Amino acid sequence: MTPGIIERYAAWLPVTPATPLVSLGEGSTPLVTSRRIGPSLGLSRLFFKYEGLNPSGSFKDRGMALAVAKAIESGAHALICASTGNTSASASAYAASRGLKALVVLPSGGVATGKLAQALAYGALIVPVRGNFDRALEVVRALAQTPGYAVVNSINPFRIEGQKTAALEVFEQLGVAPDRVFLPVGNAGNITAYWRGFSELHEKRGASLPRMHGAQATGAAPIVKGHPVKRPRTVASAIRIGNPASWKTALAARDQSHGSIEAVTDEEILSAQRLLAREEGLLAEPASGAGVALLIRMAQTGQLRPDERIVCVLTGQGLKDPHALMRGLRLPPAVEPTEDAVRAAIG
Ligand code: F0G
Repeated sequence: MTPGIIERYAAWLPVTPATPLVSLGEGSTPLVTSRRIGPSLGLSRLFFKYEGLNPSGSFKDRGMALAVAKAIESGAHALICASTGNTSASASAYAASRGLKALVVLPSGGVATGKLAQALAYGALIVPVRGNFDRALEVVRALAQTPGYAVVNSINPFRIEGQKTAALEVFEQLGVAPDRVFLPVGNAGNITAYWRGFSELHEKRGASLPRMHGAQATGAAPIVKGHPVKRPRTVASAIRIGNPASWKTALAARDQSHGSIEAVTDEEILSAQRLLAREEGLLAEPASGAGVALLIRMAQTGQLRPDERIVCVLTGQGLKDPHALMRGLRLPPAVEPTEDAVRAAIG
């Protein structure tokens, strides 16, 4: 059996003998060497951490495994979360695996089809609300005290603890800490968790510290602007968030690491997403394209050294949002099933 993150990283996690080993086999995701994007930018050590290969198709599964284990340990019988889609898919999957109820509060019309289909298929109770993610999270916070409920958004400290294992894994895979890490920022849990992981590696193993670079979408860039955004807009629905819960710790990650949090446009996001698919064979969702877009911009403006070890985190699987994938693409019309017709179509 593939051990999950609780088993593999127990020594780094707040687990007790009473903590169940909740796992769907999360973690152990590949660190893929860039064969084309890196070299085309003059970067010889660019890697993609392909977190879309987690069991529910996103990085959320690491933190969810631990959050669900601790929820069970504390006697909860229902998981509740607000989500732009991936947290709900992950929570629903882990709830199903342990016979817990999953209640997910989603921004109506704001979640990619694949993620909705996942939550439904895993048997979650979905409550779409007429509002954005930030409103949904406010509602979930209000429901948090209900007996038997465990909130599994990244405001749950165990989500961050479990998620930090991604940094530990990158360190194992590279043999050293990277010089820079690029990732998209939405509710800002992931950047917080990576920074915690690398900071603990620094303290306990003497590892060097990477610079953390977070990317927000221009229309949903509260941290870049320095104030909440009332109506966040972006094609990358996963990071359509106007008031991130982990704002302060994201700033700490940025500043302590001498990194940056910057905005990228929807065009840059989609173009990076397409490039990943066409040039590397890596399908990622639009949000994951944001980190890559920022990397491309920094490389093109001479802000990166050629030999730096750079890790770009691909946070979610591209199949989750087929609508975004198909933008600008066209399925050719059907032809007769004959050699001639197919030859003619090939041109
Ligand atoms: N990438 C993907 C694919 C995501 O789903 C998210 C967040 C992020 C990046 C940003 O990570 O929030 O830790 O800064 N998705 C959350 C959700 C908000 O509800 O699924 P973050």
